[in-house]
Amino acid sequence: MDYKTLKPFPKDFLWGASSSAYQCEGAYLEDGKTLSVSDTAPIPEGTTNFNEGIDHYHRFKEDIDLMAEMHFNEFRFSIAWPRIIPSGDGEVNPKGVAHYHEVIDYCHEKGIEPVVTLYHFDLPQVLQDKYGGWADRRCIDAFVNYCKVCFKEYGSKVKYFLTINEQNMMVLYQGAQYGSPKGVWQANHHMLVAQAKAMIECHKMCKAKIGPAPNITAIYPATSAPMDNLAAMDFDQLRNRLFLDTAAFGKYPEALWNWWKDQGIEPTIEDGDMEALKDAKPDFLAFNYYGAGCVKYVSKEEGEKILKEANEKKDFMTGLMTYPGMCMAVNNPLQEQTAYGMGVDPTGLRITLRQLWERYHLPLLITENGCGVKDTLEADGKIHDPYRIDYLRRHIIACREAITDGVDLMGYSPWSAFDLISTHQGVTKRYGMIYVDRDEFDLKEMKRYRKDSFYWYGKCIASNGEDLDD
Ligand code: BG6
Repeated sequence: MDYKTLKPFPKDFLWGASSSAYQCEGAYLEDGKTLSVSDTAPIPEGTTNFNEGIDHYHRFKEDIDLMAEMHFNEFRFSIAWPRIIPSGDGEVNPKGVAHYHEVIDYCHEKGIEPVVTLYHFDLPQVLQDKYGGWADRRCIDAFVNYCKVCFKEYGSKVKYFLTINEQNMMVLYQGAQYGSPKGVWQANHHMLVAQAKAMIECHKMCKAKIGPAPNITAIYPATSAPMDNLAAMDFDQLRNRLFLDTAAFGKYPEALWNWWKDQGIEPTIEDGDMEALKDAKPDFLAFNYYGAGCVKYVSKEEGEKILKEANEKKDFMTGLMTYPGMCMAVNNPLQEQTAYGMGVDPTGLRITLRQLWERYHLPLLITENGCGVKDTLEADGKIHDPYRIDYLRRHIIACREAITDGVDLMGYSPWSAFDLISTHQGVTKRYGMIYVDRDEFDLKEMKRYRKDSFYWYGKCIASNGEDLDD
């Protein structure tokens, strides 16, 4: 629906941007930190590893100064678990603890609210080696103990914690490591219980608010065929509601659970697990949004044939996005895409916000959204990125429309304040409003430059989202 007048952004709206430790800090073995599973993952040819990042570990003050110049009142970053507890589940590393005290204190000095992710893709490698990662229930206690250290240390000065970044993407895209579908849902269950227990501890130990941070998106049916509509509903359960119903309502989505049971792949639930899920009450739901999904129905036979062919061709994406007897992801020809093939769909953001608000009635926080593309540093030190400004503007308008629809939106924290290392596509897939001068293999001086979007976003924030002009 269209409105004659849009409601303004709330006065205390959080405006800032997001990052994650392993993608920006560098210093990957400094001050007692050990390797994480992200440090050891295979690196696609032609792209950098995460060892030096953009050296944010040493330059965080300069970076936060630039954020303050953009009028940020929020900065989302993650704490690296292997910095705080290098052995994964043993001794606390005082140098790691001290580092994040410094970052948090400096944010406050600059009037910026830290929004702290506890776990963003960087499980300590030692836990992977020792337990096979989340396949083993012992990871639950390891995570909860690590979180308790964070709540004890930072709980009096952090207002917002996020539990696990994109658990759904970790499970759906990296599930093969767990050996079988049942193994995948078992590992997922352990993460859900760990998250629930962490939320319970947070509420016991400090006044901070806490919520999950999955990647959530509206799912469109490929056509108006009834079976495609059903497929969209089903995929919504698998991709979105599996991670949000469990967090917000403390229960698994019913049809999905029945489908798992039908195939004998439901996770084994131990005493106390469902109680933990029920007792944990998120204060808000954070989510990352990059574009809507689109699916069609695929029968068991057809789906299995597609999977077999995909396997033979080593087409991992098709393999990951096909669920025989349920659905398969398809390209949406009506959705714009970036040069890297990521969807651009501001209306999809409004739809997602509406669906989440109407379903869960919890305050919402957008913890990622952004446009990763190549940028050019001109000879005069300028970076003209009208595409990023256009992207941000359209998504900010969608937020305002959703607020006018009635959604309780707490803030907008796009990806990212500065260029950092993409999960799989190197540093030259740039997301930042601050340009970092390094290439894939030439670190240069990593000098920071202000892109055009830096000035634009600063102006937008200063006007509390009113001034979106060039
Ligand atoms: C999100 C992740 O999935 O998307 C980030 O939480 C990631 O860690 C971001 O960087 C952008 O994706 P990519 O693959 O371009 O880095």
